[in-house]
Amino acid sequence: MNSHNAMAPIATPQNANDRPDVVRLADVRRRFGKTAALDGVSLSVRKGEILGIIGRSGAGKSTLIRCLNGLERPDSGTVLIEGRDITGLSERQLQPLRRKIGMIFQHFNLLSAKTVEENVALPLKIEGLPKVARLKRAAELLDLVGLSEKAKTYPSSLSGGQKQRVGIARALAARPALLLSDEATSALDPETTHAILGLLKDINKKLDLTILLITHEMEVVRNIADRVAVIDGGRIVEEGTVWSVFADPRSETTRSLLSTIRPQLPDHIAQRLSQNPGGEAVVSVDLAGPDANFPLFADLSAVPNSFRLIHGGIDHIQQQPVARFFIGVPDPSRLNAILQLLKGRSARVEILGYDARSA
Ligand SMILES: Nc1ncnc2c1ncn2[C@@H]1O[C@H](COP(=O)(O)OP(=O)(O)O)[C@@H](O)[C@H]1O
Ligand SMILES: [Mg+2]
Repeated sequence: MNSHNAMAPIATPQNANDRPDVVRLADVRRRFGKTAALDGVSLSVRKGEILGIIGRSGAGKSTLIRCLNGLERPDSGTVLIEGRDITGLSERQLQPLRRKIGMIFQHFNLLSAKTVEENVALPLKIEGLPKVARLKRAAELLDLVGLSEKAKTYPSSLSGGQKQRVGIARALAARPALLLSDEATSALDPETTHAILGLLKDINKKLDLTILLITHEMEVVRNIADRVAVIDGGRIVEEGTVWSVFADPRSETTRSLLSTIRPQLPDHIAQRLSQNPGGEAVVSVDLAGPDANFPLFADLSAVPNSFRLIHGGIDHIQQQPVARFFIGVPDPSRLNAILQLLKGRSARVEILGYDARSA
């Protein structure tokens, strides 16, 4: 496992390290026949934090979530929720705990025969709260998610984004200590996804709510998570603050998951590259965080006629610049000077190959 935490002290929420763990998993294993769905997972989520767990289909994400609410029992390892090991609890002992864990789903799971406010109030009915109190709480929650005027309508009259807002209100009804989200925006268009993620971030701040967000989309992690854990084949292969993992992904899985939202060398250029020196050297340049706060191009221009910009840009994640550029250095005699200058500025540089055609 690669830990990026050492290089990223600034972007974590204040005093994050002092806050108690809401979730702590230690060496959790779960097999289905020959498949190790979870193969020794250890991770923790601190109070008030948004942890994104990303992985491809079949990586073990849903099994992980099911271990957290007691729907699945690990073969070994411990699952602590607010300090309490839940792996040995009986079905009856799990009931009150499940009410302290809110959950939202890809397909919303609303009851179509009940009104919006009845859907939101349902977890409170199960808790035995009187009707007046239930409806009062439902009204507060619908206000929180911006759907007050829909209280008396039925889910079928709502858009996907509105349905997920109802799902979020319902998940919060019993004042959970933890919100689990299993692909909650996967069925929504990009604009609605953005709005729902904004709402989750809002709620996270307002209620200091701990959120564990499971997704296969890096965009989701990028937008609202504080930290990210990458799961592959039932193992956590990478973990760290979001900006530092995006700036310097170490595992192949992470790189591949990031490929759609991180600048890549355009295919038609990549295909022309040879490993034999000759022609223009094509170099990737990565730098992020405090290291990126210097006048890069002014510096490089000090080496005359030295480089051209091929592709790339600067993203800002958790308010940190994350820069990735591809440059071409046509003159081999300038290459070393350029590389040394960049390294001296803490950039990571890699010669990807040589483009003979542009020699
Ligand atoms: N109840 C089950 N019985 C058999 N195999 C299962 C069961 N649940 C999950 N698996 C297997 O475990 C692996 C992880 O599944 P899952 O946790 O659903 O992954 P994800 O949610 O990341 O797509 C997959 O290979 C899946 O086929
Ligand atoms: Mg799943």
